[in-house]
This record gives sequence, structure tokens and C-alpha cells, in this order.
Amino acid sequence: MKLSKRLQHIEQMVTSDYTHIWDCCCDHGFLGSSLLSKQAAQNIHFVDIVPDLMSQVESKLQRFYPNSVSAWKTHCIDVSTLPLQHYEGSHLVIIAGVGGDLMRQFINDIHQSHPNVNIDFLLCPVNNQFELRQQLITLDFSLQKEVLVEDNRRFYEIILVSSISNKNSPISAVGDDIWQSITAKQANVVKQYLERTLNHYNRVQQGSAASVEYIINAYRDKE
Ligand SMILES: C[S@@+](CC[C@H](N)C(=O)[O-])C[C@H]1O[C@@H](n2cnc3c(N)ncnc32)[C@H](O)[C@@H]1O
Repeated sequence: MKLSKRLQHIEQMVTSDYTHIWDCCCDHGFLGSSLLSKQAAQNIHFVDIVPDLMSQVESKLQRFYPNSVSAWKTHCIDVSTLPLQHYEGSHLVIIAGVGGDLMRQFINDIHQSHPNVNIDFLLCPVNNQFELRQQLITLDFSLQKEVLVEDNRRFYEIILVSSISNKNSPISAVGDDIWQSITAKQANVVKQYLERTLNHYNRVQQGSAASVEYIINAYRDKE
């Protein structure tokens, strides 16, 4: 199964050696399966809340990865209840393909349940990136890497953060590196994403009593 461009970029951002990688909201488990093929970690966990999906993923893994070098496990649970306490070692929690508000909830719940565990989160929300970033800043997380990807005329921020505070690697409310481009092609992606984001918040501003002018101004600084 060939991964979408978005999922390929997420996969490429898994470079450290983790004991456990959690492919959360895994759906059909494409990303986790690819990580399993690459032996990206000692253990790959597949997490989704839908029982039918998880039994299909379990069957596929049994069939295609019976003797995998990396161990794998499926979990039919809510991502908010990730059982990290039962698994020793380092953790990368990947959450992609869901909205920023739901993602904020997941991260908050996981962090509250495991306040002393150093967790890396690799995040790719489908919307509300600003609000998600605000939450990461409030939790005092630190930035490891961020990229902007265009896939099928949609734009995605992919953000790798650590739950450990690091004053030298702060998270920006609107992003920093995602606005940089070396190639003309990426410059065009950046331009379109900025235009689309500003249009979105201008529409929100018109239809809402609450002011989002500070968000618009923060993005305008990137023009
Ligand atoms: C659009 S898919 C994302 C698939 C893949 N991660 C990607 O980025 O392409 C969203 C998945 O999130 C799952 N999901 C939604 N809420 C969840 C929750 N609270 N806990 C676990 N999985 C959840 C859904 O069942 C669905 O399979």
C-alpha cells in the first residue's frame, strides 16, 4: 500500500530510536504498517476506537507480519486513555488525520495521565492549527521539527514536539520553519497556505462576536 504524500512526510519525520511508537487514530493502519516494515521502533502500537477497524487491522497484521522483527499490538481504545504506564521505554505518539480540537483534548488527557513521562508527539491536524499550537505552548512543550506539506490541494502542518520544556526550542503560535522555503515550488505552497489561512480567519472574524484579530495579525506578520 503506497502511503499518501502527507503520510510519507509524517513517516520521514520519525528519525529517533523509540521503544514504542503509537499510531493513534490509525484507521486502516497504513502508517503503522509502513513503520513496521521499516522496523522503525522495537514496538509499534495501532490505536483506534472503532472495533471493526481494529479487528481488520489485527487480521492484516497477523497475515502479513507474523514474524516481524518489531513487535506490534492493536488497541481498540480512546486515544485519551493511552496505557503508556504499562510500557517501559521511550514513546512517540503519532496523531494525524483528526481535527485540532480533538487533538488538543487527546494531548491534554495523555499529558495529565502521564505528567512525568517524556513523550514525543508527532502531530498532523486537519484544522485549527493555531489553537493546537496555543495548547502546546500552554503545556510548555518544546519544538523539534515542523514542516508544511501540500497533498491533493490541501495543506498540512506536521509538528514534532516533546513534552519536555526547552527554552531554546519554543513553539510558535503560527509556526516558524513552515514559512521558510528554499525552492520556488515550496514558496508557492507557503504563499497559498498563508492566503488560505488568512481567508479562513477573516471569515471567522466576520461571523463571530469574539475577536480573532490577534490571530489574523500573527499570520499577517508572515506575509
Ligand atoms: C480520518 S482517520 C485518520 C487516519 C490516519 N491517522 C491518517 O492520518 O490518515 C480518523 C480516525 O480516528 C479515529 N478516532 C476518532 N476518535 C477517536 C478516539 N477518541 N480514539 C481513537 N480513535 C479515534 C476514527 O475511528 C478514524 O479511524
